[in-house]
Amino acid sequence: MPRIVFVGCDGDEHAVEVPVGVSAMAGAIRNNVRGIEAECGGSLDCATCHVYVDDRFIARLPEPSDIERDMLACVAADRRETSRLSCQIVLTPELEGLTLHLPEVQS
Ligand code: FES
Repeated sequence: MPRIVFVGCDGDEHAVEVPVGVSAMAGAIRNNVRGIEAECGGSLDCATCHVYVDDRFIARLPEPSDIERDMLACVAADRRETSRLSCQIVLTPELEGLTLHLPEVQS
């Protein structure tokens, strides 16, 4: 089971194991990771699951869809080149150790 490391804006790390095929957002919610709100439950309608993907992993992720790109315009914190919506990051074995930095605010 791949492990995801969520890094809070205060530097605190929270490592969780998430089954292949499950989204990083769902992994965070199931493991009570603070800093992911996911108000829409993963239907690409809220942008409150925003994360900054660590530079080491950004090239391993598929490109965001047009809808995800549109929703990234709605994030509450700074949008960066590494910004993604965690409900759209689906775990694969290749993402072992995926590191996601949490923004200061989600809404
Ligand atoms: S959970 Fe709402 S857009 Fe990701």
